[in-house]
Amino acid sequence: MQALAQAQPNIALVKYWGKRDARLNLPATGSLSITLESLWTRTRVVVEDSLEADTLSFDGRPARAAQTERVRRLLDDLRGRAGSRACARVETTNSFPMGAGLASSASGFAALVVAATEAFGLALDGAELSRIARAGSGSAARSIFGGFVEMHRGVAPDGRDAHASPLLAAEAWPLEVVIAITSTGEKEVGSTEGMTRTALTSPYYDAWVAGSDADIAAARDAVAARDFGALADVSEHSCLRMHALALSADPGIVYWNGATVEALRRVRDLRRSGSAVFFTIDAGPQLKAVCQPADAQRVADALRDIPGVVKVLRSGLGAGARLITPEPLRASA
Ligand code: DP6
Repeated sequence: MQALAQAQPNIALVKYWGKRDARLNLPATGSLSITLESLWTRTRVVVEDSLEADTLSFDGRPARAAQTERVRRLLDDLRGRAGSRACARVETTNSFPMGAGLASSASGFAALVVAATEAFGLALDGAELSRIARAGSGSAARSIFGGFVEMHRGVAPDGRDAHASPLLAAEAWPLEVVIAITSTGEKEVGSTEGMTRTALTSPYYDAWVAGSDADIAAARDAVAARDFGALADVSEHSCLRMHALALSADPGIVYWNGATVEALRRVRDLRRSGSAVFFTIDAGPQLKAVCQPADAQRVADALRDIPGVVKVLRSGLGAGARLITPEPLRASA
């Protein structure tokens, strides 16, 4: 049995940073995101009785042991549900650099869950796919769905209520995202380690968790009303608070470089001069500018001009993770 799935990264506007249960990977806060359209991960899962162990490769190269282990745990869950003992060969490819703060783990685990569920002959609904993806990587729970998505923190100790659900379809509010790539290297501190260190050492961690529900509610209202200004305010606020939290860890975590800061200032200038645009930044130095389509060209030109910005990508909002018909894995981006 084999299946091929595609998922796109999502960008959190209200951030997830911290876990209420590290073993089950349950988030300490809810989050709210937009799923992108033009960046993707494609993953093929081949289940074969003859395989002695699960294998994982990226663009044909074997993955690191820790990455394979994370995937094996997820496959174990599905094997258990399917009553199967067969191992799987997982082949994956990204249209964008991994581990650089472009949410490759989000699209990666979302594509994996959808492909592996099919390859093991299971049929699961979106909430269940999202729960399984969450166990792999918290942000992946959101890439199961397209458009605007809310991740529920949940309160159940077993995590049954910690999954994402769709809020608004991509076509219902077609925003654009302009991504300023300021470095293509892997980040020094991955999100999992970064949030663990922050929770253990930042004096501001409890205040961050306490403030999150209000941010989610404000963002949810802004999406329902298609209120760009309100979404801009809460998104920038959530992003800056998340980074303030990381900075306040011990040792402090600095995800930004000089170009990130310059890009942030440029986005604020553009907004002050009338463009409908706001920024957000994840656990890496790339800046994502979310804007109305009419302003996207101006924003892209302004960000491309900044010294240290090596590339600018543009994307609309897109669909959730889904099976795709077999085709060469290495289609062009
Ligand atoms: C800054 O989902 O990568 O992008 O659950 O440990 O795999 P794990 O973390 P991950 O963290 C994402 C952090 C973030 C904010 C967000 O996407 O909400």
